[in-house]
Amino acid sequence: MAPIVALFPSLVLMMVFSSFSQRADSLSLNYYEKTCPNAESIVTNAVKSAVSKDKTVPAALLRLHFHDCFIRGCDASVLLYSKGSNKAEKDGPPNVSLHALYVIDSAKKELEAWCPGVVSCADILALAARDAVSLSGGPSWEVPKGRKDGRTSKASETTQLPAPTFNISQLQQSFSQRGLSMDDLVALSGGHTLGFSHCSSFQNRIHNFNSTHEIDPSMHPSFAANLKSVCPKNNKAKNAGTAMDPSSTTFDNTYFKLILQGKGLFSSDQALLDFPKTKDLVSKFASSREAFTKAFVNSMIKMSSITGGQEIRKDCRVVN
Ligand code: HEM
Ligand SMILES: *[C@@H]1O[C@H](CO)[C@@H](O)[C@H](O)[C@H]1NC(C)=O
Ligand SMILES: *[C@@H]1O[C@H](CO)[C@@H](O)[C@H](O)[C@H]1NC(C)=O
Ligand SMILES: *[C@@H]1O[C@H](CO)[C@@H](O)[C@H](O)[C@H]1NC(C)=O
Repeated sequence: MAPIVALFPSLVLMMVFSSFSQRADSLSLNYYEKTCPNAESIVTNAVKSAVSKDKTVPAALLRLHFHDCFIRGCDASVLLYSKGSNKAEKDGPPNVSLHALYVIDSAKKELEAWCPGVVSCADILALAARDAVSLSGGPSWEVPKGRKDGRTSKASETTQLPAPTFNISQLQQSFSQRGLSMDDLVALSGGHTLGFSHCSSFQNRIHNFNSTHEIDPSMHPSFAANLKSVCPKNNKAKNAGTAMDPSSTTFDNTYFKLILQGKGLFSSDQALLDFPKTKDLVSKFASSREAFTKAFVNSMIKMSSITGGQEIRKDCRVVN
């Protein structure tokens, strides 16, 4: 009897984690337990210290992790410097929104002092994204760890990121290519509860939308008028743009409420109403913050388990 009881807890754990372990069987919750026991608190402290000085840091860290995972898996390819003739992801086109990379560097520096060569930059990105969300009033969760860092980063591959002009079928395709479902698409799009967008990301919707409509008719008229005043046609201010939602430093479900009002910022946000299944989820998340945060955690763990690297970098900006 006793051995069965002793076995039982690990069996339960295996069943719980099997749903996201298909491509991530090397990841585990206690990965650094022996080799770097304070790994997580070191990352959390680095994130906390940066956030206390700059409220834009959480959004940046969440976006960094998403961007990393969607190109070559979560392998910290997003952090690498361009080298020689190779232009890295970080210097590729949709990089206006990449910032706060220094937070990962500062965590890595501390980690190298405590446990050199042990904690991957890809794991730091995953942990920092989690901390960014929880420090913004969102949920917290246990992050499976054990990712490896990649040796390749190409600016040309940033075209593999979904574009803000994507319609619902294109979004579905982009996510399914990475093993992510329509449920994951809706939940993870809720990451747009945090942060800032430049005019260029929604310009298509407010000027010359198409030959019959100046403005995307799926937009609420006063919302569109506001955006037009922030982003006039011959806009010269490089940094002009708007908060993703009015509570853009709080991780809440406002994003979904706005979409239901025609106040989604990107075509790709508003497009979530275009399939019945995704529309139902938007409504569900708009009416229940708990339902959203629960789904978000689940999908974050799935997204952050797309692995792809080979080594533990010593310096997050250069391969070993
Ligand atoms: C569904 C497909 C997605 C598209 C098309 C998309 C597109 C974009 C675009 C165009 C921006 C603004 C860039 C700028 O103008 O500065 C942005 C910002 C952001 N995205 Fe997404 N995104 C997607 C999914 C995600 C996911 C899955 C997450 C995380 C879970 C995420 C988190 C963020 C955050 C936090 C920002 C704000 C960044 C900042 O303020 O620094 N996005 N996204
Ligand atoms: C974005 O790309 C430009 C041009 O290559 C580069 O100068 C800039 O440093 C990049 N931004 C980040 C955050 O790396
Ligand atoms: C989405 O865009 C693609 C490419 O432009 C197009 O082929 C497809 O029909 C569009 N789908 C929807 C649902 O609008
Ligand atoms: C412009 O977009 C609207 C809304 O999507 C659509 O109803 C209309 O047919 C489009 N016009 C053209 C010429 O494509």
